[in-house]
Amino acid sequence: IDLDSFITGLPKAELHLHIEGSLEPELMFELARRNGIEIPYASVEEVRAAYAFSNLQDFLDIYYAGADVLRTQQDFRDLAAAYFDRVAADGVVHAEIMFDPQTHTDRGIPFADVIEGLLSGMAGAEARHGITSKLILSFLRHLSEEAAFETLEMAEPWLDRIAAVGLDSSEVGHPPVKFAQVFEAARAKGLKITAHAGEEGPPEYVYQALDLLHVDRIDHGNRSLEDPVLVDRLADMGMTLTVCPLSNLKLCVVGDLADHPIDRMLALGLRATVNSDDPAYFGGYIGDNFRAVAEARGLDIEEIVTLARNSFTGSFLSSEAIAAHL
Ligand code: HPA
Ligand code: ZN
Repeated sequence: IDLDSFITGLPKAELHLHIEGSLEPELMFELARRNGIEIPYASVEEVRAAYAFSNLQDFLDIYYAGADVLRTQQDFRDLAAAYFDRVAADGVVHAEIMFDPQTHTDRGIPFADVIEGLLSGMAGAEARHGITSKLILSFLRHLSEEAAFETLEMAEPWLDRIAAVGLDSSEVGHPPVKFAQVFEAARAKGLKITAHAGEEGPPEYVYQALDLLHVDRIDHGNRSLEDPVLVDRLADMGMTLTVCPLSNLKLCVVGDLADHPIDRMLALGLRATVNSDDPAYFGGYIGDNFRAVAEARGLDIEEIVTLARNSFTGSFLSSEAIAAHL
């Protein structure tokens, strides 16, 4: 059996996936047609050609524009269904997916349509593929903490179907401290906590995520490696990092996949995982991320198995469910 087939067949969980980032150009065109929306591209090829980014903000501008075709509950169900149908072929057995409600409610789309559509797509995935999933409500950090509080309030009727809150969008200039109170409120409601930190932001933002947001997981975390004291702390506490190799490459967090730190993270005792972030924009789903980084870094079977095991250990599943996956 070759390494690629081994990776595909290895049961894995995806812990860092923005569902809006799984919107493939083909579905973008279909939804634009269905909803009678003009999009500024003539073809699927033209859309893909526009996906060249030199940093996070470059990407975010195109990602938020693309999300404009998502209008109805059915659109959100179709989006989620397409993601799960795709990753069923990648050996994904569990996924914890993020959504950005503010991207939609700020356009006048009811929160109920967004979340009910996604929940319906998730239920369909369990029925069709046996894939379990959880939902993470992510706050946009370029907006105010007050807006995040309003979003948390909107989510109140669905809190039993939301596993965690997250923090994404433009990192630099929007440190975790800006959201300390809303994360405290979310934690008091029994939600788990995750936050993007150390993707473009400095190690200080990772410290803030730990000390002020009391995160259960760090999304990305790459720049933690600049601070050996922080690395030891993350390793000692068994903090999960949801690392996204192809995203790191496309957003220039690393210059070359051959320099990706995934194996260095493992060697330092960090609980790293491999994820896709925004697969439709970054050129690959979770299997592609495993295969690309395994080849670029020459990962061995043991490292690959560790990364897959970490995805369950680092999940928000119950300890019994985690044990059943290991
Ligand atoms: N970083 C920050 N915000 C995001 C990302 C990301 O990689 N993807 C979608 N929103
Ligand atoms: Zn992300």
